[in-house]
Amino acid sequence: MSLKFPILTADEAAALIPHGSTVGFSGFTPAGAAKVIPTAIAARAQMEHEAGRPYQIGVITGASAGPSLDGALAKAKAISWRTPYQSDPNLRKSINAGETRFFDMHLSMLPQAVRYGFLGPIDFAVVEACDVTPDGGIVLSTSVGASPTFCRCAKKVLIEINRRHPAALRGIHDIYETEDPPHRREIPIYTVSDRIGSELVRVDPSKIVGIVETERDDEVGGFTEPDAVTNRIGHNVAEFLAAEIRAGRIPKSFLPIQSGVGNVANAVLGAMGAHPDIPPFDMYSEVIQDSVIALMRQERLRFASGTSLTVNSALLKEVYDDLDFFKSRILLRPQEITNNPEIVRRLGIISINTALEVDVFGNVNSTHVLGKNVMNGIGGSGDFTRNAYISIFTCPSLAKEGRISPIVPLVSHMDHSEHSVQVLITEQGVADLRGKDPHERARLVVQNCAHPDFREQLSGYFQSVRQGHTPQTLSAAFAMHQKFLMTGDMRDVTWDDLIPI
Ligand code: COA
Repeated sequence: MSLKFPILTADEAAALIPHGSTVGFSGFTPAGAAKVIPTAIAARAQMEHEAGRPYQIGVITGASAGPSLDGALAKAKAISWRTPYQSDPNLRKSINAGETRFFDMHLSMLPQAVRYGFLGPIDFAVVEACDVTPDGGIVLSTSVGASPTFCRCAKKVLIEINRRHPAALRGIHDIYETEDPPHRREIPIYTVSDRIGSELVRVDPSKIVGIVETERDDEVGGFTEPDAVTNRIGHNVAEFLAAEIRAGRIPKSFLPIQSGVGNVANAVLGAMGAHPDIPPFDMYSEVIQDSVIALMRQERLRFASGTSLTVNSALLKEVYDDLDFFKSRILLRPQEITNNPEIVRRLGIISINTALEVDVFGNVNSTHVLGKNVMNGIGGSGDFTRNAYISIFTCPSLAKEGRISPIVPLVSHMDHSEHSVQVLITEQGVADLRGKDPHERARLVVQNCAHPDFREQLSGYFQSVRQGHTPQTLSAAFAMHQKFLMTGDMRDVTWDDLIPI
């Protein structure tokens, strides 16, 4: 590596970024997220605030980031606005308290919104890389996210070269940016492993104002071991997909999988890998997470295209120790490409995401607790769900020690409508909503997916309402939510006084 660019400390880099700047940071999950510069910006913000001066920046990322970025900046009250997906507890608190302006976006649309100028000018791109060439070729690290667009659109670029990632990662990335309308053409991906772009993010070298050298692990948390509920959900998903192959509705050669993030998604992938009737498969997804590595070793997973390699440090070392094996099976691409509706529909992707709440008609809330406080954001779930060959949502049938039923008469916030959601799966069973009207859907969801503690209550609701194409009444649709807000428990709602108007 030839570093012809100024070498700075993290503090020197932070000092270049004035109050009021908009900064595009690398990071899609904590993988490949900028670390030392945002932490230094947070320290600077704190000093400025102590001196009685304002200091805040607008923060755009690929998706969620690690504690050194979202966590540190939120604690220092250094973020004036933020988009898209986040999952940091401090930032979430600040957003829900109204201290940070947060607007949620489909992840595939974020890069084009930046290019179109919808989010205003980008003053700085701050990206983590494992190498940079003298002519401005950046080899990103464990995620791509929106970094190519940030680098292209930003007035100035700062790079964290993280020695924890080998320069030999070059070749795992597939960097491709679409033209903007009216010049946009099709994206030429016809199979999951098609490579269409460059190994490098190319940036005008005169924009690179500094490099900070670091040696820091990605701040990827581990998963909790699957429990009886997540295992059962995984089993139900695998059984459903195997039955679809037997019924001839999914080709015998199978279709690429998109799988959400978190413990349920990890358990689902594990169950699919273990199912004898599911052939070795491909992933065309967003996040490549822990379970993928073992599945590749077992030759159950043939190829994974994603935008981040979000695995714990021990697993990442295993990948780096056998990089040739994994580089021939993994591609990391911009989120605009991994989540692109055009590709999702062309490849016939089976999407599997997790719901926070779902109603008996198939509308899904992925983002807001009791309709009010944001949890994380919509992430890529909308990109995939709306365009999938089969769209599946999973969730446990109970939350908060049984006091909440995630299955309700009407979702308190809607991210995915009944028109996009095809199958609902809990540990109780499967509700296949395809070709069903709202009355049939309601019966199926309650019988097959709701927890026995809530079945009678839920069926009592729509039996009391009965009328209309969708059996619903505005006067009682949120009675279960209201009961929880008043008593801390959704159970024992009665519909005796329900007036079905
Ligand atoms: N009402 C209120 N709270 C609820 C609830 C409901 N219906 N359902 C769950 N919760 C609570 C849980 O009890 C838990 O609370 P805790 O943090 O106090 O323990 C919390 O919400 C999160 O639930 P958990 O089961 O831990 O969530 P998860 O890790 O399975 O994630 C989502 C679920 C929906 C938050 C997560 O998948 C997400 O952010 N999805 C949107 C983005 C997406 O789908 N990305 C996929 C990639 S394309």
